[in-house]
Amino acid sequence: MSLTDSTILLAGCTGQVGKVVAKALAAQGNEVHGLARFKDSAVREEMEAAGVTCHAVDLIDPDLSSVPTGPDHLINLAVTKTGRWDKDLAANADAAGLLMQHCREAKSAIHCSSTAVYAPTGGEPMSEDSPLGQDHHQYMMPTYSTVKTAAESVASFAAKAFDLPTTIARLCVPYGHEGGWPIFHLMMAQGGQPIPVHTDGSRYNVIHHEDIIGQIPALLDAATTPATILNWGGDEVVSVEEWTRYMCDIAGAPEPTFEPTDFTIPSAVIDTTKSRPVLGPPTVGWQDGFRRLVEALS
Ligand SMILES: NC(=O)c1ccc[n+]([C@@H]2O[C@H](COP(=O)([O-])OP(=O)(O)OC[C@H]3O[C@@H](n4cnc5c(N)ncnc54)[C@H](OP(=O)(O)O)[C@@H]3O)[C@@H](O)[C@H]2O)c1
Repeated sequence: MSLTDSTILLAGCTGQVGKVVAKALAAQGNEVHGLARFKDSAVREEMEAAGVTCHAVDLIDPDLSSVPTGPDHLINLAVTKTGRWDKDLAANADAAGLLMQHCREAKSAIHCSSTAVYAPTGGEPMSEDSPLGQDHHQYMMPTYSTVKTAAESVASFAAKAFDLPTTIARLCVPYGHEGGWPIFHLMMAQGGQPIPVHTDGSRYNVIHHEDIIGQIPALLDAATTPATILNWGGDEVVSVEEWTRYMCDIAGAPEPTFEPTDFTIPSAVIDTTKSRPVLGPPTVGWQDGFRRLVEALS
């Protein structure tokens, strides 16, 4: 499946995930309009050089008047984590709906959510109909789980209200050399800092940026009204300890140390029974992906 010659509004185009997706879609011959605040002018220049048309908008109180209406597709990869409930609800939930309203004529939309919406299961696989709840991101990002759930609800409403086919994709742990949680673990290990790991084992379905990019067309194809909800991750379940030890070994970093605690992000192991036939198989195995990450950063 490929996506080309389409007009795409991509919110969150300066983020870890949004940046690689926006660049790839522009390189594939799409007209990509990227939305973010662009506080870092170097990132804006990088995106413009990649062929992305940049629109500076603050989603806390968005003025979308200069953002073109009528893209073929909306991809919302923005997330706001100020820790303030009013701001985070406005930018994540309200703004998700306002973006969908703005793009109501689009053929399809992706609203990126998170496995953080699920109640922790102690490492048991979570399917799309598993119970929602607080996943303990609150120890690091107090509003995150709640506002991501609120944003899903707004996206679900907007799909119906604007008859806009939508996929809500609950992303697990994305990574690649352009960013991701595992890079922090490598940096902590290199700095000799102990790495907090959850007492449940801190296990996740990691997904490499290349597979994220490769699965965007399928996520758009899967969009429906009412919205389709899909888990979004790889098939391999890897622990923080495993990936950190593996990266340290390749990087020649000191043996990492770990601090088991209940006060960190718990495991998010996903059931991919529903999403795998829709999204297709992952192409980057975790060891290959993490090796390439370390090599690119060296
Ligand atoms: N990273 C993960 O491990 C992970 C895991 C599961 C799910 N997810 C989900 O995946 C999606 C992408 O996450 P990410 O890690 O790429 O996020 P990120 O690196 O934090 O990037 C967030 C993006 O949103 C933009 N943004 C933040 N506040 C904004 C505001 N007030 N107005 C306009 N734009 C704003 C940022 O741009 P500016 O700062 O330039 O405005 C940036 O482009 C999100 O839905 C996230 O919840 C991520």
